[in-house]
Amino acid sequence: MSSPSFHIETFGCQMNERDSEIMAHLLARAGYPPAASREEAGIFVVNTCHIRDHASQKALSMLGRLRDWREAAPGRVLVFSGCVAEAEGRALLSRFPQADLVIGPAHLAELPALVAGVLDGAPPAAVVGTSDARGVPEAPTVAEGIRARIKITEGCDHGCTYCVVPAVRGRERHRDFNEIIGEARRFAGSGVPEVQLLGQAVNSYGKDAGPDRDFPALLRALAGPGMPRRIRFTSSHPRFAGAALFEAMKAGANICPHLHLPVQSGSDVMLRRMARGHSSAAYLAAVESARRLVPGLVVTTDFIVGFPGETDGDFAATLDLVRAAGFEGAYTFKYSARPRTPAAGFPGQVPADVMGKRLAELNALVDSQGRRFNESLVGSEAEALVEGPDADGRFWQGRLASNRLVFFGRGDAETGQLRMVRITAAGTWTLSGELAGKKEAVPA
Ligand code: SAH
Ligand code: SF4
Ligand code: F3S
Repeated sequence: MSSPSFHIETFGCQMNERDSEIMAHLLARAGYPPAASREEAGIFVVNTCHIRDHASQKALSMLGRLRDWREAAPGRVLVFSGCVAEAEGRALLSRFPQADLVIGPAHLAELPALVAGVLDGAPPAAVVGTSDARGVPEAPTVAEGIRARIKITEGCDHGCTYCVVPAVRGRERHRDFNEIIGEARRFAGSGVPEVQLLGQAVNSYGKDAGPDRDFPALLRALAGPGMPRRIRFTSSHPRFAGAALFEAMKAGANICPHLHLPVQSGSDVMLRRMARGHSSAAYLAAVESARRLVPGLVVTTDFIVGFPGETDGDFAATLDLVRAAGFEGAYTFKYSARPRTPAAGFPGQVPADVMGKRLAELNALVDSQGRRFNESLVGSEAEALVEGPDADGRFWQGRLASNRLVFFGRGDAETGQLRMVRITAAGTWTLSGELAGKKEAVPA
């Protein structure tokens, strides 16, 4: 009998996206082909996110709905992986009898053997726990497409009081320096134009390894000859964002001038209660230094509104910080109390309607700054990595080094090229443009 095919559905952050790639690779290597559609799949993996209540609920309701899929044909295998799997563990097996496997992010490598076991008639199993996690789950990936991800760190040592990540991903582990370099070089060699370095606090990479093996050193090494034409990285933590990082960004012609530097709040009282390890003044000083050192730098961030105890004054400090830092973009979230996090027990939980109003006000400010930045680009030319047709197929889309999307008429553009685009119009988050010049931009 031929091996069943697999389908993977992914929620959450880019770390999870990468984990899904790794699972796909591991399953394919074990002889399971990718499914033509989710309905036809024999193995269904739901890779879940636990960061906010809404994310968890989405994953759980999908698991609920998959009961029909699981029962529609004999021998189907339903796998629940990712951060909700880690957080809820074995309890999911009794709550959702349709689940065959519950696998935490530290156990991806065991997936093919576990699936084979279920196909052989083994009982449902939950494989979770991060305390024995060694190394970073990785898989040598055959390079295809225009963007490859390399997870350089896994886990998080920060312990922000609202956040489930340290509990579900475990202590920080860093991949070997030379392995990363080798992988990036292989990607470049097989024509992948952009490599994205991933980590929960990506720039804490090598924090104990000395200045020859830390994150700025890694960026310097990735800026050498034979490396991908573009390198980007996310997310950075303010505690490790200093002059050494900005100098490395400036020096590397292929390092994208984009810094995603989550700040969460502009209020020092909130930052202390969040245990972020930085003040708003230190954060602003870092952004100012980054903008001074890196030409054309775009700075984006994350905010949580309505953290327990947040007053109108605290929120006003957040709005002040948005203006002072001049963010070109931000992801904004309502605080969500998470099980087993310290902040869930903090006094002063903020009512939903107050959070809603603050979120709307913050979004309006962030949007206006995003649009103002986009408008400042109109008339200029910028290099775009051509991604292919846009969602409705009318235009083609490309990504600027700053991470902004630009839509343009295809002309003679091909996916994967770096092309100069003249910016002709600005939206809040995206740009319109036209190809400038006939040929591909000269590689950096
Ligand atoms: N590791 C990254 C981001 C982790 S999660 C970092 O620390 O920079 C992405 C974002 O989700 C966070 O930056 C934060 O803004 C938000 N977030 C995390 N926990 C949250 C919670 N309990 N409620 C609301 N937003 C949350
Ligand atoms: Fe969560 Fe803080 Fe770690 Fe980011 S740095 S993953 S917010 S604990
Ligand atoms: Fe979500 Fe896990 Fe990422 S909780 S944000 S998928 S690390």
